Amino acid sequence: MKKHFLITAGPTHEPLDPVRYLTNRSSGKMGYALAGAAAHEGHRVTLISGPCELDVPTGVDFIPVETAAEMYEAVKRYIGKSDIAIFAAAVADYRPAHVPDQKIKKTGDTLTIEFIKNPDILGSAREVFGYQGTLIGFAAETENVEKNARVKLQKKGCDFVVANDVSRKDIGFDSSENEVALIFAEHTEPLPKADKYQLSLDIIERALAI
Ligand code: CTP
Ligand code: CA
Repeated sequence: MKKHFLITAGPTHEPLDPVRYLTNRSSGKMGYALAGAAAHEGHRVTLISGPCELDVPTGVDFIPVETAAEMYEAVKRYIGKSDIAIFAAAVADYRPAHVPDQKIKKTGDTLTIEFIKNPDILGSAREVFGYQGTLIGFAAETENVEKNARVKLQKKGCDFVVANDVSRKDIGFDSSENEVALIFAEHTEPLPKADKYQLSLDIIERALAI
């Protein structure tokens, strides 16, 4: 049966001043591969993406955003229409508490910027947005990958979490390949190392089976 997917992808940009921003290391490739694969299989796809250099896959409804706050608003608006929501974005956890109207000048030898926490978009899906569809998160970890990912699964009310060991240099980030494990409440399913399109097909298949 054809479903409606909502997918978040890419990094977010959090402005520091009119000419600078803070961001995350994310190429957006995983989220775009998921969107492309789901659309190719005939599903309806809404792709909410932070700034990326990638071509938007054909047949996808594209909602570009810049900041975590904008991504939050876009997800809030569109998630109710989806059956399956996959959160592949690398959202900045914090943003500057104050963004000056003018460029920050290099007057001091050190610079201190206060940051405040961004809303947890995935963590809002169930409790704030009242989403009842299938919910899939990603977990970027550098240590205790499975344990940390399972904590996120429970905390954010996901059906499963795609756990990503971001300490590995050979895969992930800018690479077109990745090696991930799917973390469910009661078991873990490691997937073989594969290109992000193949991983997307596997993730979509598991999502459709829930
Ligand atoms: N996520 C989100 N909104 C945020 C932060 C994270 O939607 N403000 C989502 C990501 O898209 C991912 C999942 O939550 O699907 C986990 O992101 P991750 O950065 O691994 O975990 P955090 O909960 O942010 O915790 P930490 O960075 O401290 O490990
Ligand atoms: Ca984070």
